[in-house]
Amino acid sequence: MSSQLGTVVIGGGTGFLGTALSKHLKRRGYEVLIISRKPGPNRMTWSEMLKNGFPENTTAVVNVAGQNILDPTRRWTEGFKQNVWASRVNTTRYMAQVIQEKDVKPSCFVVSSGVGFYPPSNTVEYSEDGPGGDFDFLSRLCKDWEEAAQLPEDLNVRTVQMRTGVVLGREGGMIQQLIVPFFLGLGGPVGSGTQPMPWIHIRDIVGLYTHAIQNASVTGALNGVAPQLITNKEFAQAFGGALWRPSFIPLPSFVVNGMFGSDRAKVMTEGQKVVPTKALETGYEFKYPDIALAAAEFSKIIYTDEYK
Ligand SMILES: NC(=O)c1ccc[n+]([C@@H]2O[C@H](COP(=O)([O-])OP(=O)(O)OC[C@H]3O[C@@H](n4cnc5c(N)ncnc54)[C@H](OP(=O)(O)O)[C@@H]3O)[C@@H](O)[C@H]2O)c1
Repeated sequence: MSSQLGTVVIGGGTGFLGTALSKHLKRRGYEVLIISRKPGPNRMTWSEMLKNGFPENTTAVVNVAGQNILDPTRRWTEGFKQNVWASRVNTTRYMAQVIQEKDVKPSCFVVSSGVGFYPPSNTVEYSEDGPGGDFDFLSRLCKDWEEAAQLPEDLNVRTVQMRTGVVLGREGGMIQQLIVPFFLGLGGPVGSGTQPMPWIHIRDIVGLYTHAIQNASVTGALNGVAPQLITNKEFAQAFGGALWRPSFIPLPSFVVNGMFGSDRAKVMTEGQKVVPTKALETGYEFKYPDIALAAAEFSKIIYTDEYK
């Protein structure tokens, strides 16, 4: 029997965010169809999507596909940058093309973007109308990614671009990479640690995607960040504190620059103060508004995934 709420199509739904979002939506009664490079049950490949369009009862289309920017095994070459760009912008364009060309239209199209849209600053606070998108590779990537999701107004498909901060959760992303060094007491801030670190707990980014799908008042850019502004050092202290471990061994900026190349190392060595103005204005209630609460959840020794 098909779901009353309809189907949510998720590009990149096999990843960290996509898996959590998919479980959450299924628990709420939606059907989920994943668009992936690999075929499988409840999946379509990108070429099948371009050929066949979306299922009849599609209510929302989401794109969280993207080659991992901070893959330490990949050098920051022109070829890899092209991969990073195409895996976000082209997949978003393909979805926009299907929405325009095929008969089945969702009520909304929600795509990922990043807080790297805004210029790094230790002082300025950015709401969604802050400037950006024009100063380095990652900011231009965000702008192109967001523009790829633009649809003609007469289609009546609401578009939301989620400018996401660092997503904190045990099942993937930064925490999965840092849990062992922090557990061993070898964790600490990156560089001086005074740079802001826009962050959000995995349950809240999933909650915000769902909020964007379900609320017609949410349109355009949406900052996907927690309300509490913290620095990188405050993150390290909260994480170490939740694990009862010291967290004062700094990771020098030159090491991070050497590992990742200074261009992408900026994701860790620099930051912006980003505020979730639109999320709060449209009534979203954060489950993990402060880092101590979030760290207590993703640092639990015996971890049970509540979405299962
Ligand atoms: N995690 C964070 O902290 C964070 C912060 C800000 C923004 N974001 C953005 O949110 C999105 C999801 O993040 P995530 O952490 O869930 O990423 P992830 O775990 O790396 O998963 C992303 C998915 O994208 C697909 N993908 C990877 N490389 C691809 C390529 N070259 N071409 C097409 N598809 C590709 C993969 O699906 P298949 O293998 O099934 O094709 C993968 O499962 C990304 O666009 C990311 O930039 C994430």
